[in-house]
Amino acid sequence: MKTSEAAVTFAENNRTRFVEELKALLRIPSISTLPEHNADTRRAAEFVASELRRIGMENVRLIETSSAAHPNGHPLVYADHLHAPLINGKPAPTVLLYAHYDVQPPDPLDEWLSPPFEPTERDGNIYARGAVDDKGQLWMHVKALESLLVATSGKPPVNIRVIIEGEEEVGGEGIAAFVREHPAQLAADVALVSDSEMFAPDLPTLCVGLRGMIYTEIEARGARTDLHSGMYGGAAPNPFFALCEIIAKLKDANGRILIPSFYSKVATPTPAELAAWKSLPFDEEHYRQTEVGSTTLTGEPGYSVLERTWSRPTLEVHGMPGGFTGAGAKTVIPARASAKVSMRLVPDQTPAETFTLYKSYVESLCPAGITLDVRLIHMGDAIVVSTDNPYVRAATTAMHDVFSKDTVFIRSGGSIPIVGDFIRELGTPTILMGFGLPDDNLHAPNEKFHLANFYRGIESIIRFLTNLAPS
Ligand code: BES
Ligand code: MN
Ligand code: MN
Repeated sequence: MKTSEAAVTFAENNRTRFVEELKALLRIPSISTLPEHNADTRRAAEFVASELRRIGMENVRLIETSSAAHPNGHPLVYADHLHAPLINGKPAPTVLLYAHYDVQPPDPLDEWLSPPFEPTERDGNIYARGAVDDKGQLWMHVKALESLLVATSGKPPVNIRVIIEGEEEVGGEGIAAFVREHPAQLAADVALVSDSEMFAPDLPTLCVGLRGMIYTEIEARGARTDLHSGMYGGAAPNPFFALCEIIAKLKDANGRILIPSFYSKVATPTPAELAAWKSLPFDEEHYRQTEVGSTTLTGEPGYSVLERTWSRPTLEVHGMPGGFTGAGAKTVIPARASAKVSMRLVPDQTPAETFTLYKSYVESLCPAGITLDVRLIHMGDAIVVSTDNPYVRAATTAMHDVFSKDTVFIRSGGSIPIVGDFIRELGTPTILMGFGLPDDNLHAPNEKFHLANFYRGIESIIRFLTNLAPS
């Protein structure tokens, strides 16, 4: 039997076990942003490492990323298998598999139909925090490798490296430093990332663009200490009003960002790419009702929804910590308040330059009596990847075997900071082959992964890997 068919058959025969193992991984609350979960986060890394060892990967180890400068770092998981035979006298390609084992916080808890860390199957889906983002997709990689290793008696036809991080959801600083300092450790001909979505159910999809991001926090300080709002109201500055004034001037009612020079480097997609987006099966009204659920969609006039979310930058406010937010009433003028503000960037905007523009604009808006601190929390570059190389063809051929359909190329509005480093620092062409669905509730209550896509993902990855080494 052909290697790919033997591996696919193994994967089919072991589906139930694969899902049970995934559930064990999903039970570990590896929430990277919350230090009280640091031990859980490490447990998830160890869980993945021990499975990589069990299936026969080599040099499996945790790489620590915590340091004085980066105190909340979570370990990387590394593994490799680098013994593929020559193909026609030439070395077989090396593939770098990337995924992340950390997850977003699960709140609001009362909106989950089953608890976020008790994975539950309903209607062909598995519900849990991290089900699709990204533990389910991480497990597709591990199970495709297991299937390939079993089917080839430990002699896969391509060289394999695996790097899995635990800080993707908080900016990926640890892996970025590792890539900068040890590029040779991750040397590969192509990287495969499974952390994105399909455009629609049953439609094989490659993601060819991600937005970049700058995540910031503005802290406003007024009085020396919190004050009685009756005794001092009228005379003391209120940092919330300062933040409201500033935020109101960041974006206009049409969604246009008002930071001077913000758009100067924004690149327009090619006419061919824009035309391809127009032919995707997209119904704005259906999207409004089923995905957004608001009375109307907002954003820049003259741009389609796909353009607004894929190729135009945006600015969002995520929360404004400070003051009194408990039940009931407390009459206080808070001494300090802050706002968490992020921007999604597109090619060819650079995060560092854009942050400088933003910071000086925000500082110029500072009202009297207020002191501001504008801090950068993390940043990452936007990317677009080529659709014209043999790796893309290996991927589309693989997915055609699984879905019997041609692949669509899309961009996504989300960000995966390390992909920019794979492309720029390592020079590695990157394939973003993801199997999430638009209604999988990433970062939201009732996150799920469609199990059929878990199986199709494993099969697609097996076929992609074997296609890279034609026999
Ligand atoms: N997997 C997502 C990004 C994504 C979502 C890509 C949908 C393509 C389609 C990733 O885990 C994520 O959420 N990234 C964060 C990164 C940020 C914290 C730097 C994001 O986009 O908010
Ligand atoms: Mn993800
Ligand atoms: Mn995410």
